[in-house]
Amino acid sequence: MPASTTALAFGYPWWLSYGHLPIVACALLLLLVGYWRKWSRWPMLIVGAVALWSSAAFVVVRFGLDINGRASLPTQSFLASGAGRVLDIGAGTGRSSIMVLEARPRTTLVALDLFGQSFDQHFGPGQSPQQRLLANFQTAGVEQRATIVTADMRKLPFDAGAFDAIVSAYAMDHLGPKGSVQALAEAARVIKPGGDFLLILVDDDPWAKFAFGPLFMHMGTRGAAWWTARVKEAGFQICEEGTRPVTLYLLARRL
Ligand SMILES: C[S@@+](CC[C@H](N)C(=O)[O-])C[C@H]1O[C@@H](n2cnc3c(N)ncnc32)[C@H](O)[C@@H]1O
Repeated sequence: MPASTTALAFGYPWWLSYGHLPIVACALLLLLVGYWRKWSRWPMLIVGAVALWSSAAFVVVRFGLDINGRASLPTQSFLASGAGRVLDIGAGTGRSSIMVLEARPRTTLVALDLFGQSFDQHFGPGQSPQQRLLANFQTAGVEQRATIVTADMRKLPFDAGAFDAIVSAYAMDHLGPKGSVQALAEAARVIKPGGDFLLILVDDDPWAKFAFGPLFMHMGTRGAAWWTARVKEAGFQICEEGTRPVTLYLLARRL
């Protein structure tokens, strides 16, 4: 059981959860002003539409994506045996690591991240990245089963077949196509034959388009066809493909 449900601090920017609320507030204020000043029908309809859209978009990002909340496994088929040594590639502040450690209590996990510029871009500078990750493991009560490693996912510092399973969430898509292919090859090298690989990616799906519109320009949204082809080329078999709001996931097994 998690040690705490409230004090985890994953540290994604506030606007990814609450950025639509200022728009809701402005639109409602304008509606009030319009009502008081007796605006004509069209301006009121337009401002009303903005209020409706921003409220719905807030619900999507806050409760559908919920990027600063605890994550749950998108598929129960991942590491169904429930035990083994897992690698989290691009662990960040621990959201995906904690997801696996809590859902699979008989696992141990290596949380790997470069803890460089990309980390600062996502989570902001400040306390040492490794300390932030460790603090979240302690808060979740999983620190005994987790090890933190600083390394580049394109050159993993592990022997071949060192892991029973791998997870990577919203991380491989931060590399360009060449880097992603290198990272997939490394994942294929360090996982045991038959091991599960859960790849979670940002998806420019209708939810993302609805909530963020043209502002949503995540560099990694190459689409399911691109990723499934690259994962297969790396030596995996695709077992399951699915979506969640703003998210694509692939469950693959090492051949
Ligand atoms: C969006 S965060 C995802 C963090 C975490 N997996 C989660 O689900 O919240 C992406 C992470 O990938 C890491 N990253 C980016 N390039 C990397 C590389 N070449 N090697 C290792 N980690 C990298 C960043 O430092 C960042 O922490």
